[in-house]
Order: sequence, then structure tokens, then C-alpha cells
Amino acid sequence: MAESAERKPTATAKRRFLEPFRGEALDVPPIWLMRQAGRYLPEYRATRADAGDFLTLCYTPKLAAEVTLQPIRRYGFDAAILFSDILVVPDALGQTVRFVEGEGPRLDPIRAVGDLGQLDPAKTATKFGLVSETVARLRQDLPAETALIGFCGAPWTVATYMVQGQGSADQAEARLWAYRDPDGFEKLIDVLVETSIDYLDQQVKAGADCLQIFDTWAGSLPDDEFDRWVVSPTRTIREAIRDLHPDVPVIGFPRGAGAAAVWYVSETGVNGIGCDTATPPFVMSEAFDDEDVVVQGNLDPLLLVAGGSHLDERVDEILDLMRGKRFIFNLGHGIVPQTPPENVARLVERVRSKG
Ligand code: CP3
Repeated sequence: MAESAERKPTATAKRRFLEPFRGEALDVPPIWLMRQAGRYLPEYRATRADAGDFLTLCYTPKLAAEVTLQPIRRYGFDAAILFSDILVVPDALGQTVRFVEGEGPRLDPIRAVGDLGQLDPAKTATKFGLVSETVARLRQDLPAETALIGFCGAPWTVATYMVQGQGSADQAEARLWAYRDPDGFEKLIDVLVETSIDYLDQQVKAGADCLQIFDTWAGSLPDDEFDRWVVSPTRTIREAIRDLHPDVPVIGFPRGAGAAAVWYVSETGVNGIGCDTATPPFVMSEAFDDEDVVVQGNLDPLLLVAGGSHLDERVDEILDLMRGKRFIFNLGHGIVPQTPPENVARLVERVRSKG
């Protein structure tokens, strides 16, 4: 422990990614992209084929570290994000999770309080240990100037997959359970809150410099529900991490939150706010001015597929808009598999030269 306490101040000083969290507005904003490791890269597809199964890739530290490093080697992003998945948490808790080729995740659904018995936080140690091993390897292998982002899914979003058993357009099963039996549904959320705190704590202890909480389906809930299932669990996680690791910034990504994003920031105390693709420019540049928060976002991942001058123009617009602000350049959602890798290179070059 003494060793890591000594290591931090000197080593992390080199990581420009962390500067906005220390209060600095940089001329050239740090850049990383959600899903920067993934199927758009041929080297990812090769490692993925070696691993066979997607979860095997997530739980094999050598391979998971390798795919995390691939986009750093190519593009020199300011931050690497641990290669894993938000559904590692239900898998580690004991729910059956499979990734079906071409279809996405499939889980044996949990629909009622009676199904919660199959989830056992004590079971998570082995799988979380493998993820921590990946983090530790990465901290060794990454350049000193590259920050390492750990992450988890927000309890609400993870619960939507656990209850639906797969991805869905409306997250109906989780929303219905939450309306019909809020106290029962809260028991599931509570398990996820506690497990996520433990998971993030382990990632930081292993070497993560920053954490992101992905709430992909935050936008499917109306106000009171948003408060109970998105804001409140995120605040609990954020406060626990602050107690354990006061210097580690936490970025929230409440996708689709719209006007509630400002409320989310002030109520959860996150240090960074990931803005989705639909967030209007004036919201990015002004709505968070009264909050002590770094803004991250929000290029459309499909514009990165389209490329060309339209991409360049939009990148310039975002840079102009956020000039003088504490800002991190990112997409408004994850990179899609059909993205030409050369468009990513073009984007990084543009951000670095125009900053
Ligand atoms: O950002 C990164 O590079 C780190 C790795 C990462 C993955 N998933 C790898 C992945 C991260 C941070 C995630 C988060 C994640 N996973 C979210 C939240 C962010 C978002 O995109 O909304 C969600 C909802 C999931 C759940 C999930 N994982 C789905 C719905 C799918 C199937 C859809 C798809 O894109 O294939 C996955 C699979 C997945 N997770 C892949 C990758 C690279 C593709 C799987 C493969 O290689 O076969």
C-alpha cells in the first residue's frame, strides 16, 4: 500500500487526461473513444478469434490487456479503457450470461425477488480477481502518460439486461418490475450497488486512474423513477468511491438523460459528465457551468463512419464550442463495428492539430 501511495503523485502527473479533473482547461483536450477496443480493428478480431468466446476474452488477463492496448498503439489516445463488459458483474454474481454471435447478450432472466437467491456476491472474487489482474498488467504495460479508465455499468442499466434477459428497445421488463414491486426491485439494485462498489474499488487498487459508470438506458425513466433508479444508486457508488479513493475521478454517462443530466451531476457528485450524441451544443458548453464537472463527448459515432469533410467540420465545431472549458473529446456513444480505422486516425489528428 505504501508503495502505491508513493507511486501515484509522480506517475499520474504525466497523464494529461487527468488535468481537466484538476481544474485545467487544456488547449488540446484529451481524447479517448467509448468502445475504442473492438470489432472495427482487425487486430481485435484476430485476438477475439484466438480467445473464442467473448467472456473468455474478458477473463483472460493477457488477451484482455492486449486488446486494451491495441487502440493505444494505433492512435496514442490519452486514456485506455479496461477491456471488459458491464455484464461481467451479473456473470460474476452467478447469473447465466452468454454472448451469442451476431445477436448480443443473452441472460437467464431474473424477474422477481424469488430469483435473487441465485446471485451471490461472495462468488465474484475469482472473476473480479481476473479483471484486476488485467488492470495491473495494463498499468505496467501502458505508457506512463496514458491514463487507465476502469468502469462498471450503472445498476439501472445492468438490471435492465438482467431482468429482460437481453437488450431491448424499451427495457419494459425492468420498468414494469420497478413499478409493480419497487421494494423488491430495490433489492436487486442494492446488490448491484454493493457489488459495483467492490468491483470499482478492486480496479482502483489494481491501478485504474479514473472510473466511468455507463448508464446506457438512463433515458428510459421518468422523473421520480430516474431519481430512484439512476441518481440514487450512482450517488451511493460515487460517495463510497470518494471515501475509499478521494483522488480518483468518476465520470457518469447517463445516456438519454436530456435536461435531467444537470440534476444528475449535482445530485450524484460525479466529476465528469459524458454527453450523448443528442445533447445540444449549448447544453454541452453552458448547462454545466455552475457545476464542478468536466464535460465529455459527444461526436456522433456514425459521423465517424461517414468521415470526410462533414466529420472535420463537426470536430472543429465541438472544439470551438468547448474551448476554454474543462473538456474531454469523445463520442456520444460507442464506436460501431463498421467504422473505418483510418477515420479514427483522422479524428485524432484533427483534434490534436486544431486544439
Ligand atoms: O470501451 C471499450 O473499448 C471497453 C470495453 C467495453 C465493451 N463493452 C466491450 C464489448 C465497454 C466499456 C462496454 C460497455 C457496455 N457493454 C455497455 C455500455 C456502453 C454502451 O455501449 O452502451 C453495454 C450496454 C454493454 C453490453 C453489451 N456488450 C452489448 C449490448 C453487447 C452486444 C452488442 C455489440 O456491440 O456486440 C456487448 C458485446 C461487446 N462488449 C463487444 C465489445 C467489444 C462486442 C463483442 C464481440 O467482440 O463479439
